[in-house]
Amino acid sequence: MKNPILISGIQPTGRLHLGNYLGALKNFVDLQNSGKYQCRFFVADLHALTENPNAKDLNKNIVSLAADFLAAGLDPKKSIIFQQSQIGPVQELKWILSPLTPTSELIRMTAFKEKVLQALKPEEREKITKEKFEKIVEGTNFGLAEYPILMAADIMVFDGQLVPVGNDQLQHLEFARTLVRKFNNKFGQTFIEPKALLTATPRLMSLDDPSKKMSKSRPAGCLFIDDSPEEIERKIKTAVTDSGSEIKYDEKEKPGISNLLSIMAGLSGKPIATLEKEFANANYGKFKQSLAVLVSDYFASFRKKKAALLKKPATLKKVLQHGSVQAQKIAVKKLAEIKEKIGLVI
Ligand code: ADP
Ligand code: TRP
Repeated sequence: MKNPILISGIQPTGRLHLGNYLGALKNFVDLQNSGKYQCRFFVADLHALTENPNAKDLNKNIVSLAADFLAAGLDPKKSIIFQQSQIGPVQELKWILSPLTPTSELIRMTAFKEKVLQALKPEEREKITKEKFEKIVEGTNFGLAEYPILMAADIMVFDGQLVPVGNDQLQHLEFARTLVRKFNNKFGQTFIEPKALLTATPRLMSLDDPSKKMSKSRPAGCLFIDDSPEEIERKIKTAVTDSGSEIKYDEKEKPGISNLLSIMAGLSGKPIATLEKEFANANYGKFKQSLAVLVSDYFASFRKKKAALLKKPATLKKVLQHGSVQAQKIAVKKLAEIKEKIGLVI
């Protein structure tokens, strides 16, 4: 029997942070290297269009994300690494899936609501009336609403069975599972329900506010994986901690230290309990110093590899082109099967 198909993508919307790494990219590499899956990883450039980027930035971010993929250890000999926009069938399937989706489901998605209400203060967001929400939705770009259908199409056109992602994508994945069931019920067994694969760090928190998720949209709280050792040290030193001085994991009482402990556990591979023992006699300052050294050393070879790859954009382009040709072949075949099933082939 063939190995299960595993697929995931990341949007080229800026530099990757530790949340992206510990929630997604590191897992991509580990899963690829386990040899247990047929891996497909892509640059989700069509999804990035929902942010309305300018052409130059988008182009730069696509190349930079390809460099992140390779520098982190994704290997075109082991995985199909491609560019989403090069795979036409993804967009055709998105259209085929759209009529199966009630609009109300799309505008109720947490990620959609967060994006749409981004400009409002938290108090305003909580108290928003249905009328006001609908008014704001009317003026929102439609791509943000369609986003989960495109994501479902990404997975379904490749028969994805396992999808490594962070916590914030679980609702989108649940939505994809629903679409699979709807499609299969109406047209006969065609797709498998994909399952999410989470890491031990599915939701890393912001360094400047541990009540919020570390996110590219809040750069002040991000530790970027290509940050220089000086930046890493400065950011960890100034990361928000809690009252008291004990290095102990307690998400409620000590969200700041707990978050830093998660980072240390994720990168060192040591269980949190072991780290608590190791730092039983240390204060926050000492712990933070050790963490800064760990992060900086951990990404030293990544930084070097990424810098070298960015000097060879032609190589990066070739890798994506080669992967996209492979992915296109698979997607074209699946789309033909889908078209047949829904009655488009006469
Ligand atoms: P961002 O929210 O920073 O814009 P993306 O949406 O591009 O990040 O996410 C890329 C991948 O990283 C997704 O699988 C997402 O779930 C994961 N991810 C994003 N932020 C975090 C986080 N703080 N902790 C864990 N995983 C995360
Ligand atoms: N929506 C994902 C994110 O924001 C990126 C993505 C697009 C994705 N298509 C996907 C992830 C398919 C997994 C599978 O991170």
